[in-house]
Amino acid sequence: MSGLMTLAFLAVTAAGVSSSEMSDCSYLSLLTHLNLIQTDSPLSIMRPVKNWTTTTVVSLDMVLYGILEVDEKSQTVTTHVQTQMMWRNEFLRWNSSNFCGIEMLTVPRKMLWVPDVSIQEDTSDTGSIQNSPLVTLTTDGWVFAGGRQRLTTTCQFRLYLFPFDTQSCNISFGSMNYNAESMTLRTLNSEETLSLFSELIMITQGEWELLNMKVTYYFTESKNLSQSKLIYTVIIMRKPMLYVINLIVPLFYFLILDLASFFIRGEKLSFKVTVLLSISVLLLILQDMLPSTEAKLPLMASFCVWVFTLVWLSILEAMLIDFLLGLDGCCGNNAQNAVNNQEVEIQLEGNSHKDPSAAEERGQLGPVMKPSEGELLMLILEEVKVARMETERHVKDDRKPGRYTRLAQIIDSVYFVLYFLNVVSYLVYLNTAWLGSYVSNKKE
Ligand SMILES: *[C@@H]1O[C@H](CO)[C@@H](O)[C@H](O)[C@H]1NC(C)=O
Repeated sequence: MSGLMTLAFLAVTAAGVSSSEMSDCSYLSLLTHLNLIQTDSPLSIMRPVKNWTTTTVVSLDMVLYGILEVDEKSQTVTTHVQTQMMWRNEFLRWNSSNFCGIEMLTVPRKMLWVPDVSIQEDTSDTGSIQNSPLVTLTTDGWVFAGGRQRLTTTCQFRLYLFPFDTQSCNISFGSMNYNAESMTLRTLNSEETLSLFSELIMITQGEWELLNMKVTYYFTESKNLSQSKLIYTVIIMRKPMLYVINLIVPLFYFLILDLASFFIRGEKLSFKVTVLLSISVLLLILQDMLPSTEAKLPLMASFCVWVFTLVWLSILEAMLIDFLLGLDGCCGNNAQNAVNNQEVEIQLEGNSHKDPSAAEERGQLGPVMKPSEGELLMLILEEVKVARMETERHVKDDRKPGRYTRLAQIIDSVYFVLYFLNVVSYLVYLNTAWLGSYVSNKKE
């Protein structure tokens, strides 16, 4: 294809040359003048300087079109970027007045030397790079080459403050072959302009917000290898609302439910276990989001574990209380049973006493033979004795198992107070850590 093109070019050139100066207004005459009609020209091979010691300064501007994906698990950021490179080719100059005022010329990228700039953190496949097939030349030898790329870069996340975190990710441009004496990298526009422009044209940023873009010129120098690097540091902040709604608020509500369950009278163990199960579901969600590579446990994870532990402890405490009350319950019941038995006995006795009189009543209708007064008194006395024994027993029973009940009550109150203080202090700590960092980042 390129061979064909060359042939065509040559043919046209021959025609052009034959028709002399008449064709000076075409691009062709300019191409001929610049010696760019052959594809195998040395211009595509060599660094375009007249003296080899001259350094080629490449200006490289990068703007961010979008933040497509941030993967905490694999620690990569996928962005959509556009780059624009500019450098000087000392061999390609013309006077525009000689060529009907042509000030710009586009030629295929292949025809010219193009800096071999690559990104150090890049892990995307080559198919995601879309370089413009053309480069633009200007009259005094400046060459512009643009391209856009779906860029996946590695980035070390600091997730301690998740979900109120900001991440700064480096995108380092550098030459693969040239040292710093041959080629250095710069930016054309200032970092403020670039980050402002990125913010303006940013179409999608998902759950992230671009805070800033910083540029550092980096220069490594060792004995025979010095390299110039251009590092873009992209600072992004997470929009935390989804996590607040999905994780933090429910956890907080469960905590309050658990606190409130202290006021349930009676069976609260099953309620607490239900709360614990609900929390473990939230823990599963969290596990899907955060990587296990983190050396320092994120605050969010410790918050979850803390809530889980508190609820677990309160279940244990409820069990203990249940046990203590059970101790009371068992003795009291036994005593009551004993009393009931006695009562039944007494009743039976009473019945046996009464039965004959009832039979008498039934047998002898009319003036009734009353039991003698002494007998009646004896009956009443017996009843009173039994009643008295019963009350005595009750008093004794109340005093002895009351100890456990009171112990349970004390434990319950103390635990509640400790629990409450713990919750308040931890929430204050979380609040300062999270919201403090969030607000300070917002201000920046
Ligand atoms: C990113 O670049 C800056 C500037 O050179 C450097 O200080 C920082 O350590 C780099 N960060 C990473 C993660 O490499």
